[in-house]
Amino acid sequence: MKCVHWIRVCVLLLVLNTSSEELTISSSCPTHCGKVSIPYPFGIGNDCYLNRSYEVQCNQSTSVAYLPSIKKEVAQIDHPRPVNIYGYGSSVPHGTLRIKTEITSVGCSGDNGQNLKELLNFTGTLFSISENNTLVSFGCSSKATLTNIDPRIVGCVSICDPFHDLPLQTFSETSCYGYTCCNASTPADVGQVIGVKIESNDGNETRQECSVAFLTDEYGQPSLWRNRTDAKKLHAGKYATIELKWQVITSNLTFEESLGCRQNRSDYYSNPCYCEWLAIDTLLYLRCACINGYEGNPYLLNDCKDVDECKQLKDDGRPGLCTKSGEICQNIPGAYRCVPKKSKTLAIYIGVSIGLTVLVVGVGIWLYIVIKKYRKTNRMKKFFKRNGGLLLQQQLASREGYVEKAIVFSSKELEKATENFSLDRVLGHGGQGTVFKGMLADGRIVAVKKSKVVDQDKLEEFINEVCLLSQINHRNIVNILGCCLETEVPLLVYEFIPNGNLFQLLHEEDDHTLITWELRVRIAIDTAGALSYLHSAAASPIYHRDIKSANILLDENYRAKVSNFGTSRSISVDQTHLTTAVIGTPGYVDPAYYQSSQFTDKSDVYSFGVVLVELITGEKPVSFQRFGENRTLAAYFNLAVRENKVFDIIDSRIRNDCKLGQVMVIANLAKRCLNLSGRKRPTMTDVWLQLKSSRHGDLQTEVEVNTSDDDDDDN
Ligand SMILES: *[C@@H]1O[C@H](CO)[C@@H](O)[C@H](O)[C@H]1NC(C)=O
Ligand SMILES: *[C@@H]1O[C@H](CO)[C@@H](O)[C@H](O)[C@H]1NC(C)=O
Ligand SMILES: *[C@@H]1O[C@H](CO)[C@@H](O)[C@H](O)[C@H]1NC(C)=O
Ligand SMILES: *[C@@H]1O[C@H](CO)[C@@H](O)[C@H](O)[C@H]1NC(C)=O
Ligand SMILES: *[C@@H]1O[C@H](CO)[C@@H](O)[C@H](O)[C@H]1NC(C)=O
Ligand SMILES: *[C@@H]1O[C@H](CO)[C@@H](O)[C@H](O)[C@H]1NC(C)=O
Ligand SMILES: *[C@@H]1O[C@H](CO)[C@@H](O)[C@H](O)[C@H]1NC(C)=O
Ligand SMILES: *[C@@H]1O[C@H](CO)[C@@H](O)[C@H](O)[C@H]1NC(C)=O
Ligand SMILES: *[C@@H]1O[C@H](CO)[C@@H](O)[C@H](O)[C@H]1NC(C)=O
Repeated sequence: MKCVHWIRVCVLLLVLNTSSEELTISSSCPTHCGKVSIPYPFGIGNDCYLNRSYEVQCNQSTSVAYLPSIKKEVAQIDHPRPVNIYGYGSSVPHGTLRIKTEITSVGCSGDNGQNLKELLNFTGTLFSISENNTLVSFGCSSKATLTNIDPRIVGCVSICDPFHDLPLQTFSETSCYGYTCCNASTPADVGQVIGVKIESNDGNETRQECSVAFLTDEYGQPSLWRNRTDAKKLHAGKYATIELKWQVITSNLTFEESLGCRQNRSDYYSNPCYCEWLAIDTLLYLRCACINGYEGNPYLLNDCKDVDECKQLKDDGRPGLCTKSGEICQNIPGAYRCVPKKSKTLAIYIGVSIGLTVLVVGVGIWLYIVIKKYRKTNRMKKFFKRNGGLLLQQQLASREGYVEKAIVFSSKELEKATENFSLDRVLGHGGQGTVFKGMLADGRIVAVKKSKVVDQDKLEEFINEVCLLSQINHRNIVNILGCCLETEVPLLVYEFIPNGNLFQLLHEEDDHTLITWELRVRIAIDTAGALSYLHSAAASPIYHRDIKSANILLDENYRAKVSNFGTSRSISVDQTHLTTAVIGTPGYVDPAYYQSSQFTDKSDVYSFGVVLVELITGEKPVSFQRFGENRTLAAYFNLAVRENKVFDIIDSRIRNDCKLGQVMVIANLAKRCLNLSGRKRPTMTDVWLQLKSSRHGDLQTEVEVNTSDDDDDDN
């Protein structure tokens, strides 16, 4: 079974102290070849492309764009579309590329009996075949199949009516269900090799009518059906376009850092784009996209530009989104909003007041203040409403008992607590917002998170999240104290956790005596306990979905506090103040989750397994200092387990004074958590209980790492 590991990385969290190399693409680089636009990393001519794999040759006389790395003519190249980084499970799409391929035919004039014209083989290139292609075949009694996609079998049969034998041209409509034309869709993840084969279906080799078959991404578009009436004509056309997917292979950091989206990446304001890593087999890929509301080429520096939604809507001829009378659309970075039309009363009041006496001026000023205050309150009410305040009130009212816990703070209170969101109070910038340290009137220290963008669709989830989290009361889970909905973007208030996070402690702390084996075990137990609680003890199961060492905060006694749970990234309880201090942490995501798109409790178990390995080895979840497959910690660890070398990879800081037996028990547990098959992983509660019993020297679990009976058979 082909093993595909997908690793999603929250690039927002990456802060590597690399110099910001200026990306210099000569302005003399052609942007088009004929009608084909050539976006970077593709380019025509030296210094215009990122790598030879992206070189495009343009024939000036014919305006034909040609891609030497795959020896194909290119019809269109697109960089990835903008991505909604705040949505559930959203991931950066591929860039797409449309190329011309030959049509396969049998029985047509000029074909020499070959029924498999061309095998598309992109092995060793950046390209793979998109599922947005359809197999189409025109002909009588012909069977078209896709080849080289074992073990799948995909094909279709097209017949002509045996009794009436209507001529093909009487069917000119765009239906294609088996009569003279048939279709079949391409399965997802076909990979890099595919072919199209066509053969006679009735075994009558003498019946040689012209039949054609091809893959196309234009299924459903009128252009494809223009020659629908005649397979011969289609054959004369010779080519069909198919869609490929492309991404950037990151072979080294320098290379990666030269991409536009990887610069200023902790700051969404100056660089509103987002990257994601994927590890497929032994290669690390990077895909970047502008975030929703911005458009441009994410691989170029500062090319993601704000989209003027208000304008766009008008151009579409559709009614604008702000249709209520008295409201106009106003573009803001990354979004738009509906604001009341400028009221003239204010100007009038001011105008009048100027002409009057000092007393009247006083009255005027007073009026001005009153009106301003009124408008401000009005705006706050509006924000409150827009931000789901009513929904929250409703939800809270319907859940007696939680009312006191989820406190709705006023914007004034939080402004005061953070000294008007003073820059001195900034604890960190993250992808989702800025976190400020604040002190409430009652003296409590809090972390206030100010989100950057709020996706209107996600508000209900946001409210649910606040309600959900407000129900949780566990000493190893960061407490949400409340929120404020009166501001333009919601503010979230958390308890302040002073000692950073586990990632910093493991990988950045200089004082090695701090992170003893005992402390590591305690952190593991605390974290497992919190997760076990979320999975089973809470009113309804809550999956964390983003377990990683950076999300395990440490309080004044170095007890673990799990943060950033829930699922919606827009509101997640988040890394609070720790977002920027974290170095790249890909490698936590359950590969089974990416294959099935189904997140289960066992996906959290997998991520926790990676944290366990981090605790044992002191290694980062993804490191460029390890090679090939070993760049991801899970693979590195599994290899050590297979080769019986777990002892060798134990963190040197603890190797000499930890209980080796206990380390091996926990390594075995980690191995079971990292099983590729979710079903075979233990539950979070099992993990927690086993960790606890391992500490009490109650070693009921298997001690030998290599002899357990549930070996990975998915490899
Ligand atoms: C450039 O492309 C080749 C494949 O043509 C690849 O092997 C190499 O790693 C790429 N270099 C970089 C820096 O990505
Ligand atoms: C451009 O295309 C024409 C026609 O196919 C061909 O004769 C010519 O050699 C091409 N030129 C280059 C530079 O490839
Ligand atoms: C595809 O190409 C690769 C290398 O170029 C080769 O190893 C492989 O056998 C080819 N696959 C097929 C089905 O021809
Ligand atoms: C494609 O084929 C399927 C199955 O034969 C058929 O149901 C469908 O209508 C076809 N699509 C079109 C656009 O005709
Ligand atoms: C094969 O096709 C030819 C031409 O259409 C026809 O004359 C012949 O009877 C067919 N043979 C069989 C076995 O169907
Ligand atoms: C599939 O291809 C067609 C034609 O190029 C394009 O219009 C459509 O947006 C593509 N769909 C997806 C999901 O990429
Ligand atoms: C339709 O057929 C004509 C030749 O008769 C050819 O030039 C054209 O490219 C064909 N169109 C398609 C979409 O294959
Ligand atoms: C890393 O990538 C840069 C930019 O593509 C290239 O110049 C350099 O040679 C690469 N270094 C290694 C070790 O591959
Ligand atoms: C990064 O951001 C800072 C300010 O936020 C700006 O001064 C600098 O020019 C930016 N760097 C790049 C490469 O855009």
